Amino acid sequence: MTISTQKLYDEASEDWIRKEPTLLSDYTARPFLLDWCQPVAGLDVLDLGCGEGYFARNLKIRGAGNIEGVDLSPEMIQRAVAEESREELGIQYRTGDATELDGFPDDCFDLVVSVFLFNYLTREQTAQAMREIHRVLRPGGRFIFAVPHPSFAFSRESSEGQAPFYFTTGDSGYFSGRDQLFEGEIYRRDGVALAVRCVHKTLADYFSSLQSAGFSKLPEIEELHVTPEMLKTDEKFFGPLVDRPLHMAFRMEKS
Ligand SMILES: C[S@@+](CC[C@H](N)C(=O)[O-])C[C@H]1O[C@@H](n2cnc3c(N)ncnc32)[C@H](O)[C@@H]1O
Repeated sequence: MTISTQKLYDEASEDWIRKEPTLLSDYTARPFLLDWCQPVAGLDVLDLGCGEGYFARNLKIRGAGNIEGVDLSPEMIQRAVAEESREELGIQYRTGDATELDGFPDDCFDLVVSVFLFNYLTREQTAQAMREIHRVLRPGGRFIFAVPHPSFAFSRESSEGQAPFYFTTGDSGYFSGRDQLFEGEIYRRDGVALAVRCVHKTLADYFSSLQSAGFSKLPEIEELHVTPEMLKTDEKFFGPLVDRPLHMAFRMEKS
């Protein structure tokens, strides 16, 4: 039986705690996204699907103003709060669902970030969450998110069980697999594997969700991958993913 996403994260919360880069995507995605968020000084930020707070803490260290972190998993939020009491940065965390942001008024954030959240949501839930994000963003505010590259799950031959990152697609194809749940794993550099999921969506699905949410300008897009610098650091770890489209990052503005 498939366990709920909340339970998956509640049970694995300890393994997600990190102060330094350790997970594959701490190298291949988050540094790029943090750069893309600049300038952040003084901004009111919402981190949706914040987990144990790694990205929010990094934004705060770079000068962000008020940061609210929201996550479905009470255990992940508890870890984030515990880190906040160890080293107070002034970040507020709460348990919540990205599709229902009732606790926040219209036009109250300058920046909304979602780092690997939408791969847990169906197309309908994604569209609903993006409508909420559009509502809570101020005009001129930015929305930045990353997801597994829509073609990644299909890009590794016999990828099942292969470190350091894979999803199991079974018989599903790029189009027939829409809204289907692919289980997978992403590895830390110390060899620990973390369970992750991808509710599959095509590239066009992301565009239509954004459009229906009210984001009328074309987003900027970046396809993130292993770079020669990463390879030089640790060829054994990054080598199996060379030349694969790993993640897709989107950045756009509310008109
Ligand atoms: C891959 S983790 C990423 C955590 C964090 N953004 C980071 O970069 O370290 C995905 C997170 O999304 C959260 N999540 C999944 N579905 C959610 C939903 N509907 N609403 C809010 N958070 C959700 C999970 O609990 C988990 O903490």
